[in-house]
Amino acid sequence: MTSIAPVVEKLLSNHHNHLQGQDKYVFPPGERLDMSQICHSYTFPIIDLKDLDGPHRIKLVNEIRQACEEDGFFQIINHGASETVMKSMMGIAKEFFEMPVEDRVCLNSENLRETVRIFTSFNVTKGQPFEWKDYLRHPCHPLEEFINSWPQKPALYREVAGKYCKELRVLVLRLLAAISEALGQDPDYLNEIFGNHSQVLHISYYRACPNPDLTFGIAPHSDPRGITVLMQGDVSGLEVLKDGKWVAVEPIPNAFVVNLADQLEVISNGRFKSAEHRAVTNKTTARISIPTFYGPSLDTFIAPAAAMVDEEHPALYRGYKFEEYMAAFWSKCGLKGKSILDRFKIEVSP
Ligand code: OGA
Ligand code: NI
Repeated sequence: MTSIAPVVEKLLSNHHNHLQGQDKYVFPPGERLDMSQICHSYTFPIIDLKDLDGPHRIKLVNEIRQACEEDGFFQIINHGASETVMKSMMGIAKEFFEMPVEDRVCLNSENLRETVRIFTSFNVTKGQPFEWKDYLRHPCHPLEEFINSWPQKPALYREVAGKYCKELRVLVLRLLAAISEALGQDPDYLNEIFGNHSQVLHISYYRACPNPDLTFGIAPHSDPRGITVLMQGDVSGLEVLKDGKWVAVEPIPNAFVVNLADQLEVISNGRFKSAEHRAVTNKTTARISIPTFYGPSLDTFIAPAAAMVDEEHPALYRGYKFEEYMAAFWSKCGLKGKSILDRFKIEVSP
C-alpha cells in the first residue's frame, strides 16, 4: 500500500505552525496586506428581502440596483433560506475539516479539471506563494447528476449539503429575477442568459494562522461566475475593495453576503460591478466560509446584453463562450484582482 504521508503534507490543515523566510505561504513584501489600513467603519448595504415578493418589490429592486451599481456587494437578511439548513451545513462543514485528515486526503487532487476535490491555495501547480486555506469544492446543479460524487464522510454530508444546495438555488433564482428587473428587464432575463446554469459549492477552511500579516486566506480577486452567495459564519475575515480602500465585512448572524461576479459585469456592460475582494486570516480562530458560486453553464455564450448596449454605451467587452473565460481563470498563476475580466475588454480608441 502506498503511504498517504506526501498527500497529507499538501493539506494546510495538517501542518504549519510558523511562517517565516522562504515559506511557500509567505507573500513577497510588496504584495502583503497592511492591517493598519483596513477600514472598519463602512457598512455595505443590508437588504431585507422579507417583502421581495410583496407590494414593496419595486422599492427592493431599487435598493438592489443601487448596491449593484455602486459596489456589486451587499448582505441580505430575511432571505427565505432555512436557518436550520444553514446551521446544519456549517456544522457538517466543521465536521468535515475536523475529521482525521486520512478521511479527507482521498479527495486531494492537483488536477484542476477534477470537479470534486480538496485542495490548498488557488492553484499550486502554478508556483508560489500559496494561500492559507484548504477547500473542498464540488458542483451542485443538477443535483442528481453530481450528488453521488460528493464526499461520503461525514455520513450525513450528502444529505445535509444536498438540502443546502437546493435552498441556495431557490434563493439565487429569486435574486437573479430581482437583478434582471434592476437592469430594466423581465424577471426571466438572466435565467435565460445563463443557459443550463452552473452551481458550485466551496467549503473554505482557514486554519488559525501564526502570522496573518505575511499571507492571505484568499488574495484579492473578483469571482469568475455570475453571482456569489456566501455564508460567512461568525468569524470575520472578508474584505472588499471600495474606492481604493479595503473594507472589512463584519458577519451578521443568519445573513448571506452577496457579490456580483465577472459575468454579470459583462452582461450588464459594466453597469453593475463585480466586486474585488479578499480574505485575511487570524491568529486565534479557524474560520469556515461557504460560498455558492452561481452562473452560466460552460457552453453558454456571454456578451454585453443587447439591451445594455447603445450609442452612448458601446460594448465594453467582447463576446465569448463561458468555457473560454473559465479556462483563462484556471490558467492564472495566482489570484490577481480583476485581471481576467480585463483580458476580455474591448480597447476603446480615444
Ligand atoms: C472566494 C472568496 C471569501 C471568504 O472563495 O471566492 O472570496 O470570506 N471567499 O472566504
Ligand atoms: Ni471570491
